[in-house]
Amino acid sequence: MLIQKPNKIPSSEITPESVYLNRRRFMQAFAGVGLAAAALPASALLSSGDTELPIYPGPNWLQPKLKAAPTTIVAEDDVAPYDAVITHNNFYEFGTKKSDPFEKAQEFNTDPWKVEVSGEVESPGVYNLEDLIAKVDLEERVYRLRCVEAWSMVIPWIGFELGSLLKQFNPTSKAKYVEFVTLVDKEQMPGQRGFFSSLDWPYTEGLRMDEAMHPLTLMAVGLYGNSLPPQNGAPFRLVVPWKYGFKSIKSIVAIRLTETMPKATWNQTAPGEYGFYANVNPKVDHPRWSQATERRLPASLLNPRIIDTQMFNGYADEVASLYSGMDLTKWY
Ligand code: MTE
Repeated sequence: MLIQKPNKIPSSEITPESVYLNRRRFMQAFAGVGLAAAALPASALLSSGDTELPIYPGPNWLQPKLKAAPTTIVAEDDVAPYDAVITHNNFYEFGTKKSDPFEKAQEFNTDPWKVEVSGEVESPGVYNLEDLIAKVDLEERVYRLRCVEAWSMVIPWIGFELGSLLKQFNPTSKAKYVEFVTLVDKEQMPGQRGFFSSLDWPYTEGLRMDEAMHPLTLMAVGLYGNSLPPQNGAPFRLVVPWKYGFKSIKSIVAIRLTETMPKATWNQTAPGEYGFYANVNPKVDHPRWSQATERRLPASLLNPRIIDTQMFNGYADEVASLYSGMDLTKWY
């Protein structure tokens, strides 16, 4: 297996390129897919100073696809600076502190990568990620990510619709849900070692089939124009922008289509606190804190950037109909 060593470049050199690339892609390729669009504000991409930040070009086979990805959906909000996106993470397989994934995931092997597809599909099997990605077109989408812990960020992902991936395996009529599973590897993932592990591994998540097929549901393979950093879930992870961040499972090794609702890690760990649906909802509080507002990162004591949380994280026009008739206080 290859060890992907990130290149080191000063953050001051990354961000102007991102501004340039994003603007160029936006101007050339914005296709208008029903969401509000705005030019990316330069202030959102300002450098964080002289800190040396790694970039992640990714495997050779992925690079041309990443560079060719047009920008198709842009959140109206300011994009988070690169350093915030790659150093403030939740990835319990590498530890429970926000800095652990950045500090401990840099040697994580993510190429080559295999994905096992099983359950209610006509074409089950173990697939090479490279072969799966060869069949899809990549696009850049700037989405809000709202963590259940009441912080949020705006992230320029590169990926493809989950629906276009699932169609490759020909789901049967019995497929009602999709289950996703993260890698278990104690050698590489220090958070999985030890007697008192933070969670039961593997980390799993699930979506209803119509949520999985929704055009906003993304499988991300990159961010900020490059491949996904290991701490953000390389080589590929789910991004469901209208749900709390814990649904957006990282470093996926298995996808199973099922007739019944799959188990989801946080829902299993604390069912009274984390539901299976986990739709962002300012009116349904977490038992221990309010969900009415959020801290938009990067924030500080002097500039806490507290903003109102939006229903379905601002994507209600696109997704509210998926839940019509459901009591969202019960199905939180
Ligand atoms: N996926 C796995 N496998 N393990 C995790 O601990 N954390 C989740 C989600 N996906 C997590 C995961 C949570 S709580 C959040 S908020 C997002 O990843 C954070 O994504 P980011 O670190 O890229 O911002």
